Amino acid sequence: MTLYLRKTSKSLNISLMLQAKIDSIRSEAESAFQAASTSRDLYELKVKFLGKTGSFQAVMKEMASLSVAEKPLAGKLVNEAKQALEALYQSCESALKTRELEEKLKSEVLDLTLPGVPAGRGAQHPVSLVTEEISMILSRMGYSIRTGPLVETDRNNFEGLNVPKDHPARDMQDTFYIDETHVLRTHTSPIQVRTFENEKPPLRIAAPGSVFRSDSDVSHSPNFHQIEGICVDRKVSMAELKGTITYFVGEFFGKGLKTRFRPSFFPFTEPSAEVDCQCAVCKGKGCRMCSDTGWVEIGGSGLIHPNVLSYSGLDPKEWQGFAFGFGIERMAIIKYGIDDIRLFSENNVRFLEQFSV
Ligand code: DAH
Repeated sequence: MTLYLRKTSKSLNISLMLQAKIDSIRSEAESAFQAASTSRDLYELKVKFLGKTGSFQAVMKEMASLSVAEKPLAGKLVNEAKQALEALYQSCESALKTRELEEKLKSEVLDLTLPGVPAGRGAQHPVSLVTEEISMILSRMGYSIRTGPLVETDRNNFEGLNVPKDHPARDMQDTFYIDETHVLRTHTSPIQVRTFENEKPPLRIAAPGSVFRSDSDVSHSPNFHQIEGICVDRKVSMAELKGTITYFVGEFFGKGLKTRFRPSFFPFTEPSAEVDCQCAVCKGKGCRMCSDTGWVEIGGSGLIHPNVLSYSGLDPKEWQGFAFGFGIERMAIIKYGIDDIRLFSENNVRFLEQFSV
């Protein structure tokens, strides 16, 4: 190599200068690499010396003025230096990384004797608990569980239940209309229409679920839950209705709280009765929850109106039935002595936790 460089004095000069430059960059880089104290610093040095705009790039530019014969040789020198530095970088990097990992492991010692952070225990929502309990009781009484959609047709929610369009009885329920023909179901009673049109009597059906009304105060929430009970057979009377509800209420609340039936009106039942249960907050003495009456209404009931049966294709001369629809939050309020229906939907964990079993 040296011999070749000595061919002409001019090229000798340039090449020796170049070689000296390469050697000096190389040794400067070597000592810098070896002195680096972190892998990050080392990487920055690598960029500085070997990177695209690094020190060797300047040398490469100078090579442009060399003769054709000298260029390959000078190129070889640069490559050798770069390769050596690359190898040195690798070994310095792995040494630094090992040291850094050891330091990290030492500083992050895990103290297994420290007490743990307790994981919060989930609990079923009281509405789910009560829905499950009610469904279980009715199942034991021979009722099969059905569900239906929350967005219901006007036909199933009203018309099939003897509430024609523009009839004043529509005002009984503050309805959220989706469009001309669909509503957010205002009660679970549309399951009656669905059942009568899809199943053959005799039948006993219980249908729990979410319902919606444009209404909100201490005892009304725009979204609440109901359970619908439906019984259709050849001979069904108010006596069966009262017996069924009294037994059901006793199973759910225990035998202590009294119930009473008040004559009422629903377009889909005749006769109709409202079912009240003694208020558990005040045990019947009178309080905010029961508006000082001692009684809380849990829902409506009655004998299914012949128009409802015939609308869905059942012959009212052949079939009779009773139905009831109870508010699930209402029943939870009475059972647990809760004085504001809005607590159920406020997501207050301290309230909800009390129901964990
Ligand atoms: N659907 C009625 C309401 O939400 C409650 C009701 C009353 C349901 C009488 C019934 C019934 O099945 O027979 O106000």
